[in-house]
Formats: sequence, C-alpha cells, structure tokens
Amino acid sequence: MRVSGTVAVITGAGGGIGAAMARRFAAEGAAGLCLADIAEPALADVAADLRSAAGPGLRVLSMRTDVTDETQVQAMIDRAVRELGGIDLLCSNAGVATARGLDAPDDVWAHTWSVNVLAHVYAARAVVPHMLARGGGYLLNTCSAAGLLTQPGDAPYAVTKNAAVAFAEWLAVTYGDQGIKVSALCPQGVRTPMLEDGLGDSHEAARLVAAAGKVLAPEEVADAVVAGLAAERFLILPHPEVAEFVRRKAADRDRWLAGLRRLVASLGT
Ligand SMILES: NC(=O)c1ccc[n+]([C@@H]2O[C@H](COP(=O)([O-])OP(=O)(O)OC[C@H]3O[C@@H](n4cnc5c(N)ncnc54)[C@H](O)[C@@H]3O)[C@@H](O)[C@H]2O)c1
Repeated sequence: MRVSGTVAVITGAGGGIGAAMARRFAAEGAAGLCLADIAEPALADVAADLRSAAGPGLRVLSMRTDVTDETQVQAMIDRAVRELGGIDLLCSNAGVATARGLDAPDDVWAHTWSVNVLAHVYAARAVVPHMLARGGGYLLNTCSAAGLLTQPGDAPYAVTKNAAVAFAEWLAVTYGDQGIKVSALCPQGVRTPMLEDGLGDSHEAARLVAAAGKVLAPEEVADAVVAGLAAERFLILPHPEVAEFVRRKAADRDRWLAGLRRLVASLGT
C-alpha cells in the first residue's frame, strides 16, 4: 500500500512512534488522518502542527480516545468514516510498558492487557466490517520485538506483546483472502517517552533494550513503516537483526534462553 492519497487512523498519536507515523504519512501525501490518544494537549499539538505544515490536501481530525474503552473506539472510527470518507489504514499503535516482574499486581496486568491486546481487538471489531464492505483495507498493529522474543525486566509487556503478535497473525489468516492486509510492527528500542521517561536509563528493561541493539529515532521507525506497507510484509522490522534472533529462538529454544540469561547477567541487572 502506498500511503499517498489514503485515509489513516493512528492511535497513540500524541507522541513517540504514533506522532512520527502521522508526520511521515502527511509528508507521503495522505489525504486524511484521524489521530487518537488519551494525552489530550499533546494530541492537539501534533494535530495543529500537521494542519499548519500540510497543504489543504490533508484533512486532520484529532479525538481524545481511550483505546481500552470500546464505545470510544467505535465512536472514533464512525467519526473518521463520516468526516474523512472511509478508512484505508488503521494503525493500532497505543501501548504501555510496566517495568514490573512478579511484583506487578493484577490491576497492572489487566491494564497492560487492555491497552496492548484488547485495544487491537476493539479497533479490528470496529473497522474490519467497514473495510470488508468497501472491498479492503490495511491493519497495522504496533507490537514489539518483545512480542516475537521476550522482554526481560517487564513480564506484563513480554506476555501482552506476544499476544498482540498472535492476534495480528490471526487477523492475517482469517481476513487475508478478503482484501484485508495486516502487518505487525515489531521494533526493538526506540527513543520515545515510553523508553526515556517511562523506564528511565537505569531500569533493567531499558538497559537490556540498549544492549540488544541500536536505539532508533521514531522517525526511523516511521521510515520502516512506509517501506513495510509498500512491500505489504506481515512483519515490519525496523531493526532487521530481529529476524535472525527469531530464527535462533525457533532453531534452539534452550540455547536462545541461555544466551539471553547470559546477556542479562552480563549487565549486572
Ligand atoms: N519505544 C520503544 O522502545 C518501543 C519498542 C517496541 C514497541 N513499542 C511500541 O510502540 C507503540 C508506541 O509506543 P512509543 O514508544 O511511541 O511510546 P509513547 O509512550 O511515546 O507513546 C504511546 C502513546 O500511547 C498513548 N496511550 C497509552 N495508553 C492509551 C490509551 N489507553 N488510550 C489511548 N492512547 C493511549 C500514550 O498517551 C502515548 O501517547 C507502543 O505500542 C509500544 O509498546 C515501543
């Protein structure tokens, strides 16, 4: 899919990867963007920047939307369809990290499940019937390399991102022959508020992310997204080395686990 001329919805668009995708889609010549987030002033700022930078060819909607509330997600999709004339691409991107292990209480597990997994389900429930009715569409779900591998230092994140990849695979299998394309965006470290403010440089998870490979700028992830959408690849890997890590994990799980234990131990975490 070429982004030029399309209408895209992006959740978690108030900052980080979501805002970078919005800016990049505008630069690619998107016709309409519907931006959603709970971070209200940040979301309005991103939308205002885009409206002033882009020409009259781009229509920008922004809606405070809690992606864990299905009624709000449905209302946001309905409004985007009504005001932007249909949705070609839905980027279900909002996500949270916890930096917790066995100490994570049930409410942290439940919230992480709601944002990192159920929100993808709500988005698909709202938009897939619309896309099927108009003959096709594209779902881009932001998962993580943690969804293909794991995330030392953050048990709820590791588990929910694995589930997010599983749901994206299920969508691709179920709707791929009906004109719905699906991609799972699976970066390693990206320099965003999630990594920098949420975890902090000294946290075990942040140190492991940095040790595992290059920490990318969100704009580099947006570049990989545009290329991945054009290639219509299921897995979009802004860090290409993740493909090799996945091969090693599949080839010998015990060896891969031992290697990861060695990496964690070497960091003294
Ligand atoms: N930063 C990384 O290293 C990294 C690596 C791999 C995957 N990811 C994933 O990329 C996605 C974007 O994360 P980011 O790094 O840009 O982090 P970020 O914290 O900058 O952005 C996440 C956005 O999601 C929004 N959000 C959180 N809960 C929400 C809710 N209930 N409803 C609506 N919006 C909500 C936040 O307000 C924020 O603007 C996430 O799914 C994250 O898990 C990030």
